[in-house]
This record gives sequence, C-alpha cells and structure tokens, in this order.
Amino acid sequence: MSVHRLQSSPMNAVSEEPVAIDFDGVVARFGALHAMGPTTLSVRQGEFLAVVGPSGCGKSTLLNMVAGTLRPAEGVVRYKGDAVTAINHDVGYITQKNFCLPWRTVEANVRLPLEFRRIPKAEAARRVRIAIDKVGLGGFEKAYPRQLSGGMLQRVMIARTLAYEPDIYLMDEPFGSLDAQLRTRMHGELLKLWQETGATFVFVTHDLQEAITLADRVVVMSGRPGRPKRVVDIELPRPRDVIDIQSNPAFGAYVKELWAALDVH
Ligand SMILES: Nc1ncnc2c1ncn2[C@@H]1O[C@H](COP(=O)(O)OP(=O)(O)OP(=O)(O)O)[C@@H](O)[C@H]1O
Ligand SMILES: [Mg+2]
Repeated sequence: MSVHRLQSSPMNAVSEEPVAIDFDGVVARFGALHAMGPTTLSVRQGEFLAVVGPSGCGKSTLLNMVAGTLRPAEGVVRYKGDAVTAINHDVGYITQKNFCLPWRTVEANVRLPLEFRRIPKAEAARRVRIAIDKVGLGGFEKAYPRQLSGGMLQRVMIARTLAYEPDIYLMDEPFGSLDAQLRTRMHGELLKLWQETGATFVFVTHDLQEAITLADRVVVMSGRPGRPKRVVDIELPRPRDVIDIQSNPAFGAYVKELWAALDVH
C-alpha cells in the first residue's frame, strides 16, 4: 500500500520510486516483419503510464513482453530488475481479446485466477463480490457469457483482473466497448484503485482524453515499427475528478499537444 499520493505531488513521489518495468533497446520481429522498436523506456513503481499510437505500431506487443508471453528479438525487458523470461505472475492483463470461459458463470470466470493461486475460498468470494460490484455487474453473478453483451463481457475481464490484485495492471484498450457513461464511471473506479493500491499501470488506448484523465505520463508511439517518439508529462493535480478535470484549461492543451505528436508528418 502506498500512501504517498495522498500527501504530496504524485509526479515528485513517483519519480523517487524504483523502476518497475524497463524496456532496454527492445525490438519485436515476427518473421521478416519489424513490428516494434528499438524502444527504451522505464516505468516506475506506482506510475500510471498511458501508451497511444497508430494501429499496428506494437502497443499490444509491448504489453505482451511485460506479461512474458513474447520475447524480444533484440534488447531486454526487465521487471523489478530481472529479465522477463517466463510468464510474469505479478501482472494482471486485460487484453484486447475476450477470454471468458463459456461454461463458467460470471462469478466463476472472475474467480478463475484466484483458484490458480489457491486463494482461500472465503477470501476469494469476498474479492469476487467487490470486483463484480466495482464494474457494475451486480445481479449477473450467475449469468453465463452467452447471456451478456460485449461491454458486459469486457467488464467480466476487468473484474477478473481487479480480483487478482496484481502489482502491475496491463490494460489494452479495456474500455473500448463500454458506453460513455460506464467508461467515465470506470475511469473513476480505476483512479480510486490506483490511489488505494499504489499499483503500476500501463494503459493502452486510442482515446487521448482518456489517457490524459488517467495518466502521469503519456507515451506517443510512431507508426510501425513503433518507437516512443514523444513522452508527455501530465501535470494535472491529483486526486482527479474525471469530469471536472476536463474543464481544466491545461487539459485541452494536452489534447492538442498529443494530437500534434501523433501526427505522422
Ligand atoms: N503473433 C503475431 N504474429 C505475427 N505478427 C504479429 C503478431 N502479433 C503482432 N503482429 C504484428 O505486429 C505489429 C504490431 O502489432 P500489435 O498488435 O502490437 O499492434 P497494436 O499497436 O497493438 O495495434 P492496435 O492498435 O490495432 O491494437 C502488427 O503489424 C501485427 O500485424
Ligand atoms: Mg493492440
């Protein structure tokens, strides 16, 4: 639990934290395709990092390397100082694809990683209940995936990750399929979670407003092979109100700055 954010500027506090994830000259290749890099970038413990960039530039690839499902062709990805060479169990990963098991109910899907980790039943049930509530799926605990909408399925995946209580959250466009109201609610929930846990977030999105609302820093990737071409510090005050923050004059300036940085020219 990290309480520093409640007391001082998160920008300063985070800059003193040790590095959680380190991309050191990382290149990704798929056969002859040079997909990403070289990328050199560090994420500090407790930082909220957003990543934006054109489709196909290697954002999901970056996350896969932190999760340990993909190895770099060149360079090294380190987690807490050690090269990632196997599946990283400290990571909770919300991918762009949906991995709900169709034969399990909502609550059993959310509980899945807790069973793998042999969390005692009562504690698992508590975490599952809280997570389902946070994503607004109360009442659907016994429903099966086929009975849910796309946005609801996505929320099951989010709840599963929340219940897992990882040190690092990797989120790949997690709110893309949610309506605007729900999305805003999830932004609030996520900021609360981040504040309470001191966890590290790497959050991929195409939505610049979303990136600015949530993040300490936004990395703008170039087109494929994607490399970080711009890193923008978001120096908006914390704690942030997800609605009020949008009327902060600096908010619009950040949108313009990121929009310009994304421009391929
Ligand atoms: N397993 C794979 N095998 C072959 N090529 C792949 C594989 N995974 C990714 N690629 C290729 O690598 C490039 C980067 O893919 P990646 O999924 O990381 O992009 P992205 O930035 O996440 O895009 P999007 O915003 O559309 O999700 C793409 O050209 C993609 O086709
Ligand atoms: Mg992707």
